[in-house]
Amino acid sequence: MAVATAAALLAALGGALWLVSRRFVGSRAQRLHGHGDPALMHGKTVLITGANSGLGRATAAELLRLGARVIMGCRDRARAEEAAGQLRRELAQAAGPAPDAGGAGELIVKELDLASLRSVRAFCQELLQEEPRLDVLINNAGIFQCPYMKTEDGFEMQFGVNHLGHFLLTHLLLGLLKSSAPSRIVVVSSKLYKYGDINFEDLNSEQSYNKSFCYSRSKLANILFTRELARRLEGTNVTVNVLHPGIVRTNLGRHIHIPLLARPLFSLVSWAFFKSPLEGAQTSIYLASSPEVEGVSGRYFGDCKEEELLPKAMDESVARKLWDISEVMVGILK
Ligand SMILES: NC(=O)c1ccc[n+]([C@@H]2O[C@H](COP(=O)([O-])OP(=O)(O)OC[C@H]3O[C@@H](n4cnc5c(N)ncnc54)[C@H](OP(=O)(O)O)[C@@H]3O)[C@@H](O)[C@H]2O)c1
Ligand SMILES: *[C@@H]1O[C@H](CO)[C@@H](O)[C@H](O)[C@H]1NC(C)=O
Ligand SMILES: *[C@@H]1O[C@H](CO)[C@@H](O)[C@H](O)[C@H]1NC(C)=O
Repeated sequence: MAVATAAALLAALGGALWLVSRRFVGSRAQRLHGHGDPALMHGKTVLITGANSGLGRATAAELLRLGARVIMGCRDRARAEEAAGQLRRELAQAAGPAPDAGGAGELIVKELDLASLRSVRAFCQELLQEEPRLDVLINNAGIFQCPYMKTEDGFEMQFGVNHLGHFLLTHLLLGLLKSSAPSRIVVVSSKLYKYGDINFEDLNSEQSYNKSFCYSRSKLANILFTRELARRLEGTNVTVNVLHPGIVRTNLGRHIHIPLLARPLFSLVSWAFFKSPLEGAQTSIYLASSPEVEGVSGRYFGDCKEEELLPKAMDESVARKLWDISEVMVGILK
């Protein structure tokens, strides 16, 4: 009896130690970019969608630290101002009492609801009036496996926000990106694209709704969009690349219900195995700032390295058809 209890205790202790060591070894193994050059992004303007939370917030913090002027495109002004305030305080603390030597960047909050084409248009109109240049656009905002909902314009929410809202945003900002070239577009997708398909006959999921399928479909659309855009941008010095961040501890799972009793276990597992937002944001930061990817376009990245795509994400005819239909859906007339 005593032996069994001791064995159980030892196993539990061993398990806990293993989790802790995994956690710390895991974070050390992450490549942290840009730490060598605090002025890498000096003089550059970066727009990040969904920058008040998770990966977007971590990306904003790091690019700010590298000297960028960071525009946070967020749907909720109060949440965005709160995040911006925290980021400014963290930056000031990191700089310490010494006067600002490196010239850290600047944060600007702007309202952008990707579930509303009217909001996307108003946002871009203001941005184009106020900003003389745009060096990097990071299409980061996303919504994950929500119940069936429609955007203001009647699109299925995940396709509408993750793909169509960003499609219109990118279209409206492309002129400014071109005049600021060399410039970059970074698209945040997910490995879950593998379980999606572009079912052209029901893009708004009016016939049936499967929230996992729709998330995957929107993330596949992110990749097809990137590849078609890269093709269209050849010779402009505007590059566009897409990435998956891995599994990251963020607010993305807000629509996923975890039973009360399972929550402590979920927290432990996510603490031990999921990336922190800063770890997860490394590939976004890399693609936005590293000289290593100067001129590289149309590629898919994970952990700051190029990765292969399934054939369905490289299908040029599907990419073109999706592009044409997206233009009609967001009302771009040629
Ligand atoms: N976390 C992961 O494991 C993981 C894995 C693969 C891919 N990703 C991708 O990473 C990206 C960032 O997600 P995250 O994990 O950082 O999640 P998060 O913490 O939930 O952040 C998502 C951001 O998107 C914003 N957003 C949602 N709907 C919006 C809308 N209609 N208009 C404007 N902004 C909107 C959110 O704003 P509010 O705060 O106002 O809601 C939030 O700022 C997403 O594209 C996601 O698909 C994440
Ligand atoms: C929903 O979609 C996912 C991913 O495409 C699939 O694995 C699952 O079987 C689907 N569920 C139903 C009920 O069809
Ligand atoms: C792209 O950049 C190269 C090298 O800086 C330059 O020679 C070329 O004129 C640029 N092309 C355009 C279209 O801006």
